[in-house]
Amino acid sequence: MRFSSTAYDYDRAAGSYDRSHDRWLRYAGGEAQCAFEGAATALLRPGMSMLDAACGTGTVVRRLLNGSRGKIDIALLDISRQMLDQCHDIAARRVLGRMEDLPFADNSFDLVTCAWGLEVLNDPEPALREFVRVARADGRICLVFCAERPAGSMLGTLFSAHIRHSRRGQFLDTGTLAQTAAQAGASHVQWLHCSGPAAALILHV
Ligand SMILES: C[S@@+](CC[C@H](N)C(=O)[O-])C[C@H]1O[C@@H](n2cnc3c(N)ncnc32)[C@H](O)[C@@H]1O
Repeated sequence: MRFSSTAYDYDRAAGSYDRSHDRWLRYAGGEAQCAFEGAATALLRPGMSMLDAACGTGTVVRRLLNGSRGKIDIALLDISRQMLDQCHDIAARRVLGRMEDLPFADNSFDLVTCAWGLEVLNDPEPALREFVRVARADGRICLVFCAERPAGSMLGTLFSAHIRHSRRGQFLDTGTLAQTAAQAGASHVQWLHCSGPAAALILHV
């Protein structure tokens, strides 16, 4: 099955995205989101540079900034102009682009984050390669994504079925993703504990 959402589809979804995504987090992906945000918060230090790829409406970065002291140099990247416009209140560079072809030099960021972005691609490998390329040596990449795991609740099962049938994304196999990350150049894959139809991890560069 191929996933065919375009920048236009995401532009149209931008205004209502947060409401539907909140439901996904409440009933299915919340534990993975907490694990991901906890890891990213712990890794962020004042003076660091970070990229949030497929930033959507900027929710992740707003929450990370709440937990951080001191200035962080942030780049927000998304394929949708309307999504980026929703991030206007965040002190960051807003960059229109594709995560499979990042418009940044090698070794640009201490931390790269991507929440619920890999699964909307037909093939996550080019994006993973790009994340590794733009991360500095000793940098970290924090990811959270829909994964082929037991949903754990009736509502989680229903939400997962809805995502599959609407072709908004795929549920990635965690073993395959770990292999792909290693092939993309990650030196270590650190899984974070969470349950539900989602997974969170830190890639070491
Ligand atoms: C499910 S949303 C996740 C948004 C946000 N990270 C969050 O946690 O709420 C997926 C996002 O990926 C963006 N996107 C889709 N394909 C992309 C691509 N090839 N490159 C960059 N962004 C993309 C969409 O515009 C959308 O904002």
